[in-house]
Amino acid sequence: TQSPVNVTVTGAAGQIGYALLFRIASGALLGPDTPVKLRLLEIPQAVKAAEGTAMELDDCAFPLLQGIDIFDDAKAAFDGVNVALLVGARPRTKGMERADLLEANGGIFKPQGEAINAGAASDVKVLVVGNPANTNALIAQAHAPDVPAERFTAMTRLDHNRAIAQLAKKTGAATTDITNIAIWGNHSPTMFPDLYNAKVKGQNAFEAVGSDLDWYRDEYQPTVGKRGAAIIEARGASSAASAASAAIDHIRTWVDGTPEGDWTSMAIPSDGSYGVPEGIISSFPVTVKDQQYSIVQGLEIPAFAQEKLDATVAELVGERDAVKELGLI
Ligand code: NAI
Repeated sequence: TQSPVNVTVTGAAGQIGYALLFRIASGALLGPDTPVKLRLLEIPQAVKAAEGTAMELDDCAFPLLQGIDIFDDAKAAFDGVNVALLVGARPRTKGMERADLLEANGGIFKPQGEAINAGAASDVKVLVVGNPANTNALIAQAHAPDVPAERFTAMTRLDHNRAIAQLAKKTGAATTDITNIAIWGNHSPTMFPDLYNAKVKGQNAFEAVGSDLDWYRDEYQPTVGKRGAAIIEARGASSAASAASAAIDHIRTWVDGTPEGDWTSMAIPSDGSYGVPEGIISSFPVTVKDQQYSIVQGLEIPAFAQEKLDATVAELVGERDAVKELGLI
């Protein structure tokens, strides 16, 4: 049998943590043959709640779960980590300015980046879920100079899955009929879901929705982009199970690869492709093979897509400049 994989989850006592940990322990993250050891990181006030979740994990008697350790210290939590899921973050509260939000998150993601740099396994994969996810990933990456930059990624898979679900609904297709969806840019309402290069049962997705640019611009893009707010409005709490599910999908695809002919969406350090400034962590369509991702090249970017791509990238550049100014990168 395989040796266990160390999975560190930050914000383990939060609502995404509660939805995520049981699926990791059940084998959904790394497959039915891979034992896991969970390393939970929380702030001191939430350690007790994390202990409660650990008791429930024990009570599931998951065959693949070989241990659970709980920490309030990042250095210890990331020691030997193979898969790091950075979920805990400082949420934006009413009246909070962007600079305050970025600064508060810098206080979380800088030490976590340093801890990953100090103690992670050589094959570490990092997924940042905590918002502002792309820029938090950039901060962590900047403080882990010994870890290859491409190991730091941020989650746009939830937007990707939402884009599939909304397109399936519109066309009456099954979600499995939809391929080659891509999210470009920031995990924020500015993100751009690309229908021009997507397919429904092999047919171009934009044509499958009747080449209806008004629907694309006024309904589809805002519905996908503002889905998080709609969930809060309906549920009285932010997306948790769907976010956890997307995090599972993101890592599972990174480990197992994308199906032949298809791609996925990951926010990754830009290499300058499609004019996205090098170094910012932006979502791209990527294929994954042998646990290495590559940006899909040569896609058509019509004027509407280019305008949206420019806007979401400008937002990311603004966030990067702001964290630079704050001395966080
Ligand atoms: P939550 O508030 O229920 O849980 C967050 C947890 O993080 C809390 O238990 C808190 O104690 C912990 N935490 C705070 N600072 C920490 C630190 N320095 N180290 C370790 N743990 C720390 O929030 P929820 O709903 O679980 O969401 C977590 C994050 O995920 C939020 O930032 C949210 O905006 C983001 N999110 C991202 C999505 C994406 O698609 N990228 C989708 C949905 C949520």
